[in-house]
Amino acid sequence: MADFRERQIRLVHELMYQIKVQEVMTRDVVCFEPTNTFREIQRCMKEQRFSGTPIVEDGTLVGMVSIDDIISAFDGGYIDDAIGPYMTREVATIPQNYSVIAASNLFNKHRYGRLPVVEAPRSRRLVGLLTFSDILSHLLLAMNSIAERVERQEHSLVEGAKQAKDTLRFELAPDDFDLAGMASTTVKKHLKKAGLQPDVLRRIAVICYEAEINVIIHSLGGFMEVRLLPDSVTIEVVDEGPGIPDLEKAMEAGFTTANEKIRSLGFGAGMGIVNMKRCADDFRITSSMETGTIVQATVKLSPDDATTDAD
Ligand SMILES: Nc1ncnc2c1ncn2[C@@H]1O[C@H](COP(=O)(O)OP(=O)(O)OP(=O)(O)O)[C@@H](O)[C@H]1O
Ligand SMILES: [Mg+2]
Repeated sequence: MADFRERQIRLVHELMYQIKVQEVMTRDVVCFEPTNTFREIQRCMKEQRFSGTPIVEDGTLVGMVSIDDIISAFDGGYIDDAIGPYMTREVATIPQNYSVIAASNLFNKHRYGRLPVVEAPRSRRLVGLLTFSDILSHLLLAMNSIAERVERQEHSLVEGAKQAKDTLRFELAPDDFDLAGMASTTVKKHLKKAGLQPDVLRRIAVICYEAEINVIIHSLGGFMEVRLLPDSVTIEVVDEGPGIPDLEKAMEAGFTTANEKIRSLGFGAGMGIVNMKRCADDFRITSSMETGTIVQATVKLSPDDATTDAD
């Protein structure tokens, strides 16, 4: 599994794809018309502390004026002229329904301070203004709410683990990649505390992880139950479907139905079931197109495993 930092970077990247320009842009844009003078714009810039403004005519974007243009107007002695003949007319824009990753690429490539947002691709109808810091603040908010959710989930997992002394149960939500791997990590922590040997722990962790990820990626959701018995650990993972049409094929090394997006997240090598089977002393997988898939695995404890003082 990718380490924490890599996962964070991947998360930011994924969020950038999900956030739309219209969610983060400023809608209340101060605009000017080609008949306004440089001086009028300069006064407003000074008062309201912005460094560039779109120029519109009847709601249509016709140009941009930046602080550099104002400085040139001072230098050139035409600060009281209307901006129309001087303003930049070749303006890069971003449509409101694009994801902010596209805007971020434009910011990086051209070093723009701000991008006028238009109603649709090829439209010149101005609907907002976007700066890189608009994207950043939204990203921080999104990261924060994910962090809070993870914290809450971790807390409730630990609480759940305490309630049932030797049984751990986790609900697994479909497509919840933010929490992917959390249940198996908690199982590992708990069983380590219970005194299981590293080799046994590793095998249990692989089975839990692969089964957990399969439910998240391939199913409509389900649960995982891990029981610590006197001489073994049993893992049962049950989901609500849609089931595996050809189980024999699914158990072959390299077989996968994972799509491009899943693969870009690092899953979908088609090795999950093979790895689970390899790590288990007893392994069963049953699947029905009506009820879903059930994975049952047992890992025998080694004589050195201290299970009596499990807390
Ligand atoms: N719980 C499930 N529900 C529905 N289909 C599943 C489930 N688990 C596995 N499958 C199917 O079996 C295939 C093989 O699963 P396996 O875990 O071996 O590989 P993978 O998930 O595709 O990739 P990897 O586990 O290597 O990331 C999957 O691609 C999917 O089609
Ligand atoms: Mg898998």
